Amino acid sequence: MAARGVLITFEGVEGSGKSTQVERLAKRLGVLGVSCLVSREPGGTEIGESIRVALLNPYHNEMHCLTELFLFVAARTQLVREKVLPALTAGKVVILDRFADSSLAYQGVGRELGEKLVARLNKLATASLKPHLTVLVDVPVGVGQGRKESDNLDRLERERVEFHERVRGGYLQLARRAPGRFKVVDGALPADELEGLVFRHVEELLKRKGILRE
Ligand code: TYD
Repeated sequence: MAARGVLITFEGVEGSGKSTQVERLAKRLGVLGVSCLVSREPGGTEIGESIRVALLNPYHNEMHCLTELFLFVAARTQLVREKVLPALTAGKVVILDRFADSSLAYQGVGRELGEKLVARLNKLATASLKPHLTVLVDVPVGVGQGRKESDNLDRLERERVEFHERVRGGYLQLARRAPGRFKVVDGALPADELEGLVFRHVEELLKRKGILRE
């Protein structure tokens, strides 16, 4: 683990509301004077954002599932080396909207590529970096999908309900296997309530790390 900093990741199915929570958390920590790097996957670097465009293009129907996996992993490799590791070394709190668990849930379980392959590639991409805390914003697939505008969906959002159900199941299984790292919160709660819940988990971690005072 890189020195000093803290890595917090947010995960969840489409429309879980995690991006709103990422924004709110960063704002709250900013008010408390905690220096944060906020980023997202796929993306967060110039190279990663170019990869994102190729990945989400709804006309790229012919994209092979291995191509998809390699592109997500490539974007992650770049983000970790260019932004995340330097920020952690500088002692910052890094908040990521999606990280390695997304590939395990979406490509490993959703696309049925298997966890072993994805975990191996993730290890390379992340330089073995593991989040200190992963907030899984869990919401039933139907609820999440109901929050998206149906005429403006990206390539992955257009996938069948069964795919998204597998992804959700994959996430819940990951959370059960690593209860120390994962905090599962109910994405169906009102955003304000969810914000409070998330903040309590983060506060506890940052106090433990000496970043926030007791
Ligand atoms: P995005 O618009 O960021 O979706 P969301 O707001 O739900 O996070 O698009 C990212 C999409 O890419 C989303 O459908 C999840 C998917 N994804 C993977 O399939 N594997 C991955 O490793 C990552 C990071 C994302």
